Amino acid sequence: MAYEVFARKYRPRVFDDLIGQEAIAQTLRHAVASGRTASVYIFAGSHGVGKTSVARILAKALNCPNAKDGAPCGTCEVCESIARNECLDVVEIDAASNSKVEDVRLLRESVGYKPASCRFKVYILDEVQRLSGSAFDALLKTFEESPPLVRFVLATTELHKVPTTILSRAQVFRFQRAGLDDIVRSLRRICEAEKLTVEDEALRAIGRRARGSMRDSQKLLDQVVALAASKGGIAAADVAFLLGDATTDVVARCLAAIVRGSAAELLKELDQHVRAGGKPDALGADLMEALRGTLYLKTSGESSPLLEDVALPKEDLRPAAEALSEESLLYALQLLQEAQMNMREVRDPRLTLELVLVRLARVRELVSVGEILARLQRLESGAPRTTSVAPPPVASRPAPSPTPAPAPAPAPAVVPPAAAPRSAAPPPPSPPAPSARGGYQVPPEFARPGTAVATAPITLERVLAVWEQVREAGRQQSASLGRALERARIKGLAGGRLTIETSAPSFIFSQLETPALRDPLSALFRDALGGERLELAFERVSETPAEASSRPLPGASPAPPVVSPSPGTRSVYDEPVVKLAQRVLGSQSTAGGW
Ligand SMILES: Nc1ncnc2c1ncn2[C@@H]1O[C@H](COP(=O)(O)OP(=O)(O)O)[C@@H](O)[C@H]1O
Ligand SMILES: [Mg+2]
Ligand SMILES: [Zn+2]
Repeated sequence: MAYEVFARKYRPRVFDDLIGQEAIAQTLRHAVASGRTASVYIFAGSHGVGKTSVARILAKALNCPNAKDGAPCGTCEVCESIARNECLDVVEIDAASNSKVEDVRLLRESVGYKPASCRFKVYILDEVQRLSGSAFDALLKTFEESPPLVRFVLATTELHKVPTTILSRAQVFRFQRAGLDDIVRSLRRICEAEKLTVEDEALRAIGRRARGSMRDSQKLLDQVVALAASKGGIAAADVAFLLGDATTDVVARCLAAIVRGSAAELLKELDQHVRAGGKPDALGADLMEALRGTLYLKTSGESSPLLEDVALPKEDLRPAAEALSEESLLYALQLLQEAQMNMREVRDPRLTLELVLVRLARVRELVSVGEILARLQRLESGAPRTTSVAPPPVASRPAPSPTPAPAPAPAPAVVPPAAAPRSAAPPPPSPPAPSARGGYQVPPEFARPGTAVATAPITLERVLAVWEQVREAGRQQSASLGRALERARIKGLAGGRLTIETSAPSFIFSQLETPALRDPLSALFRDALGGERLELAFERVSETPAEASSRPLPGASPAPPVVSPSPGTRSVYDEPVVKLAQRVLGSQSTAGGW
């Protein structure tokens, strides 16, 4: 017998075969049993969640001579022919390749004919959102003219693209993505039927990768089985190998290395992962997932359902959740996310990841520029040390220590532990972090000015402190604004006019000058600066080789604001707080990567 892919072989044949989607099955059974089916159904949901399967089961239920309580038998001639898609009265049409009005006209003609052998004629239109506007109109007419014993099931992955005229005629069912447990259950069922020995963790790894699609999970199982056909059983490592994935062990060790601040260990793990046939971007993705899980754990607690989709067990995430601040985690995620995008384009994705791993080893030392500025301002204003700013999100440590435990900051005993809330009793300021000397990139969340700063008049350092936040918000708001801000830097502030310079290509630059981008950007600054307005001016600069070489390497986050003094505009270097910063931190600390 020819090999049949699992997705087809194990397509649910009757309602009871369905895993998940119980409410939908229940409602449909009920409607069939009571003879009150709608004439038009819309099944909405992502790929591989059972829309086609349920449509066929409904067609069987309507026509099966042995149907009981609205459920088809699944084994009679009618049920079999519908399952094989050979029944003349159950017509499946792919709207994606029959999207024109002429195609629907043909459908309209055929609707009028009597069923060949069944009671109901059922039309299943897949990807119905792909129909052209006039085709939708024709479909609407078809609904109006169709005889009482015709049923339509329109399946779509994009419900929002279906016109309201159609929606208002239909009963809509939304198919949920399958949960991990359901996917594992369905895979387990297949493995049992196929007499395959597969580790539970292997099924879970497949399930996670399928991201809610039953069909994808079954395809992956097909591949794993083909790969491991000669072996006795299938282990999680086989799946990891097939997917080019890092095993959970590797990811767990990487996470621990981040907590310890060991770049060397991280690089070693990557090396071993690549030697074992793994792909760098897969390790990056898995590490990202682990850090995301850590963030969930930290923000939502142990019982968060969000943790279900994370491969690493909580025990592996906990040390990181305790040692790393939310800000550090967000920054680490941002670094990885940018690296993931870059890795697709660069020739040497491994190098990209290596650079990021080295940075990840230092996220625990991170001190926000907002904090430093606030601290400096206080120092400058001569405030007594005991009434200083809130503690930094992460206590800065001079050098990575080999212990995984979050070491307390090298500051007086009253300093709360790293994970203490920011509003904790104000400790004396710890000496400026040595790590800040390299001029950390500022993650957007860091760039919040302290409250003391927020009420002050607009100064350049206030703008600089919110710059990354504004940039990130811009990125979130629209792709074009994000692109326009990618290579932008704050040049200076003079008389309420903020000059932003950018080496963006001219077509992007010209967009910045239109209200379409200028207005939202100005609004973002206004929000970030507590309602105060800034006038924005833009200058285009061509990137000099020197600048280009000081730009962070691939995988790095966008350049920090580099400010050069220019006549007429007040330079950031003239700001007292920056002068002070230079004195305290040992000069030249405003620019440059880490
Ligand atoms: N709810 C489910 N229960 C069991 N298997 C399912 C379910 N949903 C999907 N599948 C599996 O995935 C395959 C594809 O499902 P299908 O109904 O074609 O999805 P869709 O039409 O939503 O893309 C099916 O053949 C079946 O093997
Ligand atoms: Mg389908
Ligand atoms: Zn039947």
